[in-house]
Amino acid sequence: MKILIIGAGGVGTSAAMIIKRAGKEGDWAEKVVISDYNFARAEEVADKICGGGKFVAERIDARSPESIREIIGKHEVGFVMNAVEPLFNEVIFDTCLEARVGYLDCAMTLSVQHPEKPFELTNVKLGDYQFDRHEQWEKAGVMAIVGSGVEQGMAAARSTEAGDCYTRISNPTNNELGKAMAALEGGEMGLPFASGAAAFSALALTLLKAGDHVLCDDTTYSATNYLLNELLAKFGVETTQLDFTNYDAVGRALRPNTRFVFFETPCNPTMKIIDLARIAQIVKESASEALTVVDNTFATPFVSTPLACGIDVVMHSSTKFLGGHGDAIGGILVGSKAVIEEIQSVGLKNLGGCASPFNSFLILRGLKTLELRMKHCSTMARAVAEFLDAHPKVASVYYPGLPSHPGY
Ligand SMILES: Cc1ncc(COP(=O)(O)O)c(C=O)c1O
Repeated sequence: MKILIIGAGGVGTSAAMIIKRAGKEGDWAEKVVISDYNFARAEEVADKICGGGKFVAERIDARSPESIREIIGKHEVGFVMNAVEPLFNEVIFDTCLEARVGYLDCAMTLSVQHPEKPFELTNVKLGDYQFDRHEQWEKAGVMAIVGSGVEQGMAAARSTEAGDCYTRISNPTNNELGKAMAALEGGEMGLPFASGAAAFSALALTLLKAGDHVLCDDTTYSATNYLLNELLAKFGVETTQLDFTNYDAVGRALRPNTRFVFFETPCNPTMKIIDLARIAQIVKESASEALTVVDNTFATPFVSTPLACGIDVVMHSSTKFLGGHGDAIGGILVGSKAVIEEIQSVGLKNLGGCASPFNSFLILRGLKTLELRMKHCSTMARAVAEFLDAHPKVASVYYPGLPSHPGY
């Protein structure tokens, strides 16, 4: 039988070791292809751990049916052992079904792969596994990885409810913060990140591609500005910046390839105020399919809810007013389920800027006093602004609560 193991992590390595041991007693496995996105790791399992011979390595993209089909065809695989991240189960299962090859879900049922030779099972938690401990494991006769972590993860991946398999992608505390912010902003889904900058990079790197255009206000936080004008420019994304209070110019600057229309209001640091509903309307009435994205860090949902004005996605540096105690850094995106889920499965998952659950806990604690703090901050800010405005040595004060401010 020709076997394909998809995944060369903990479960895939164990599957390969079991086949190797069973192979000593009867050469029932003709060829074993160990495949992983990380080819070097698959090679290490095939050569160093299994000793080459009938074990060969291939690079595979477990998210892609074409990639799975190609390896099945090339090696005339008759049986697939799925030892890869549970999130890809459906793609692998469907592809095997279509290709009419056997399928085994290793993480759940590793012990049944050779029914005539019942192995003694040793229960091991997935977290205990270390790739470089294979020799000790082999001596110890470890035959399966059956940990509550795997089972819960698999069950979560299969359930219709969103499950928490791995904290980089989702975590119960981070989810709670996401839900709280979605409720406050009036969006379908919220997704926390390690920082405001991480939130914006995940959004941009998920949704933008070479050849896209970004239309951006001329006053944006420095990291956002750098990402758009310096980093993304290197990858073929073009950004135009202009003063968004010149509303006619915004309409004229939209292009068929404009993917984002991005601004802050109030802007950091000039406190410029931009009319949310007016920009949303200009974009929606144009032929452009651009997504409107607003950094709501300074206003917070206590003062302003951009989604209610027709904006598509809201971002925050929750390091500021949302957290409120100066003891946690964080970022958050809120928008439709479709857009936020895409960012979760691409930008969050692969760039890795995930929120620390402890910081999410601290930010959730901060949200409980958001109203009290925002009222107090606003009262104090007005008092300071009025004092400075009346001071003979102060040339100008940027505070939108003063009649002299253009955004008053
Ligand atoms: C308006 C605004 N957006 C985004 C950021 C970036 O957020 P973080 O520092 O949490 O990465 C900041 C940080 O000062 C900010 O002021």
